[in-house]
Amino acid sequence: MLRITLTPLILLTTYLLGVSALPGPLRLASTFSRITTELDNISLGNCSLKNVSLPMNYTKIKLPEPTLHLDLKYIALGRGTQNYSCSLTESSHSSKKFATPVAVGAVATLFDASCIASQSVMLLHELPAVIAQTSLGSFALMVEALTLTTNSSNLIIGEHYFNTVGDPFFDLSMSGSGAWMACKKDASVSAPTSVSHTSGNDESDVPWLKLDCKDCKGVKEVYRVMTVGGVAPTTCAGQNDTVLVEYAAEYWFYG
Ligand SMILES: *[C@@H]1O[C@H](CO)[C@@H](O)[C@H](O)[C@H]1NC(C)=O
Ligand SMILES: *[C@@H]1O[C@H](CO)[C@@H](O)[C@H](O)[C@H]1NC(C)=O
Ligand SMILES: *[C@@H]1O[C@H](CO)[C@@H](O)[C@H](O)[C@H]1NC(C)=O
Ligand SMILES: *[C@@H]1O[C@H](CO)[C@@H](O)[C@H](O)[C@H]1NC(C)=O
Ligand SMILES: *[C@@H]1O[C@H](CO)[C@@H](O)[C@H](O)[C@H]1NC(C)=O
Ligand SMILES: *[C@@H]1O[C@H](CO)[C@@H](O)[C@H](O)[C@H]1NC(C)=O
Ligand SMILES: *[C@@H]1O[C@H](CO)[C@@H](O)[C@H](O)[C@H]1NC(C)=O
Repeated sequence: MLRITLTPLILLTTYLLGVSALPGPLRLASTFSRITTELDNISLGNCSLKNVSLPMNYTKIKLPEPTLHLDLKYIALGRGTQNYSCSLTESSHSSKKFATPVAVGAVATLFDASCIASQSVMLLHELPAVIAQTSLGSFALMVEALTLTTNSSNLIIGEHYFNTVGDPFFDLSMSGSGAWMACKKDASVSAPTSVSHTSGNDESDVPWLKLDCKDCKGVKEVYRVMTVGGVAPTTCAGQNDTVLVEYAAEYWFYG
């Protein structure tokens, strides 16, 4: 198996974040140095997930367990935006001040985190808060740089978006497996307050979800957990017609 050092990822992350972007520079600096130590020499991609299990105990109300006999196939870190609409096409008389944003979908890049998970699930759980603070452009650049330095083609295992009929869709073709999944919602629970390191707002993280297969190949159930960000502003006052709210999360795929 390919073994590489992840130090370049961490150094690059630190560099790209820039000091001014850090709400708690000292706390983050210590997080980074610890993550650097822990991640050093962890191989990326294609690790065994046999002994890894979902973080079910973090939420007051628990999500349903994965269906018996399904295997954990992939763990991905997702980074992207939740999209909301504040256009007033249907009620043109009303003012944006009184309108609330309507969820219209999401777009995220899925980054293979299976090896990190197999080494340290606790470390994995810290990463959504870290990558949520990296700008989308920087994150793409970071992944590209990492892909080059590690000479691997499959650090990005796929994309998450909403398909033309408005269902959440996961395209995992970049994992080489040809897996994909159009989803229907099975369950949703509020995100715990402890996960997000980025804000004191209790309600800034999108819910944790269990999504089931509406139409799929290779994977049948997916969990969105350890969410950071993504929640719409409370009203449309002062917002554009399309509101993009950045988020990060872990996605756990079973099949
Ligand atoms: C990582 O691997 C390099 C080269 O194999 C080695 O020199 C270094 O000590 C390793 N670091 C850790 C923390 O194991
Ligand atoms: C991934 O791991 C499995 C089991 O260890 C192995 O059979 C397979 O060849 C590996 N695939 C790649 C692309 O390394
Ligand atoms: C999983 O855990 C069992 C029992 O602790 C151990 O024997 C096995 O080697 C582990 N498997 C992997 C792939 O880490
Ligand atoms: C959840 O369980 C894991 C493993 O038993 C433990 O390490 C972790 O601290 C627990 N987390 C919470 C929030 O209870
Ligand atoms: C969400 O926003 C992104 C970025 O602007 C865009 O590429 C994507 O098409 C949008 N998706 C939806 C469902 O609005
Ligand atoms: C990178 O991968 C390519 C194609 O698999 C291979 O030909 C090349 O030798 C690799 N380079 C390094 C530095 O490992
Ligand atoms: C609205 O869109 C413009 C142009 O894309 C952008 O500069 C501005 O920040 C947006 N306003 C808000 C409140 O997001």
